[in-house]
Amino acid sequence: MPEARPRVWVSQPLFGDIIAGLDEHFEVDDTREVTAWSPAQVARKLADADGALVTLNERVGAAEIADAPRLRAVANVGVGYDNLDVAALRARDIVATNTPDVLTETTADMGFALLMAAARRITEGERWLRDGRWTQWSFDTLLGHDVHSTTLGILGMGRIGQGIARRGALGFGMRVLYHNRSRLPDRIERNSRAAWVDLDTLLRAADHLVLVLPYSAATRHLIDAAALAKMKPTATLTNIARGGLVDEDALADALSAGRLAAAALDVFEGEPAVNPRLLALRNVVLTPHVGSASLATRRAMATLAVDNLVAALGRGPRAGDPPTPIAATATGATTAKR
Ligand code: DGY
Repeated sequence: MPEARPRVWVSQPLFGDIIAGLDEHFEVDDTREVTAWSPAQVARKLADADGALVTLNERVGAAEIADAPRLRAVANVGVGYDNLDVAALRARDIVATNTPDVLTETTADMGFALLMAAARRITEGERWLRDGRWTQWSFDTLLGHDVHSTTLGILGMGRIGQGIARRGALGFGMRVLYHNRSRLPDRIERNSRAAWVDLDTLLRAADHLVLVLPYSAATRHLIDAAALAKMKPTATLTNIARGGLVDEDALADALSAGRLAAAALDVFEGEPAVNPRLLALRNVVLTPHVGSASLATRRAMATLAVDNLVAALGRGPRAGDPPTPIAATATGATTAKR
């Protein structure tokens, strides 16, 4: 009798030609349509799986793996992995991997695009035009705030934060300040043209603040009413990390009271639901969690996740190659691992 092939679950539709790479090695339980799996359904899918390829939609924690005796690897398609309980997986010797690096530049592009859209009121202007409200050119239509030569603040200086810093410093002549739990080595600071400051200074000095730090219990609502009160009323806030970093009601208060000029949000605490107060505001740019969504980058993420799963389950020509395991220290507070 031939040895039974390991079984893997793929939780969402990815690129068919890339997922086909799993067929050589595994019995693949794939998913043909975008699906909102409940925790109980995730647990049932994992119950007879040796490995799983999941996205930020699927939480995999102690409860979901309790009845999954064969599970040996969970490959997350994404750099953020707050959907995984890494400690619970480790306790069961289940390898957890993510997809850093391949999305760095694409996500930094998006962060910068959002920053500019907020500062220069781009989506607001488009809506206004489409609504037929442009009757004549006028001097003070949609006055925004400059990006060039201002101070860029980056909270969470991992790979994506460094990419945004380079764009700001080299492309737009910005002064770049960052805050991270730990200060980066001189070489990286020099390459990024960025200077470390404490969080308080960052909030007060930034003309444009971008959040790129990991989400955890320690960073939930790090940007709350008190933090927002320290920011300049002319400043913008951009979040491309995770929605839970920001207290959205406090942000809506600040934006509607004119205590903050504008915000740009790609991520939301209860996504795909968006706080209705944010939806009602004109000075916030809203996009549906698409920071890494270029075709090339999403293909690279899927490819890396497949390679990680193959390697973690010891299969294929790359068997023995190290997968991209989640860093051992990455569950802490404001150290960026993105
Ligand atoms: C990431 O990679 O963390 C993005 O948010 C998409 O998963």
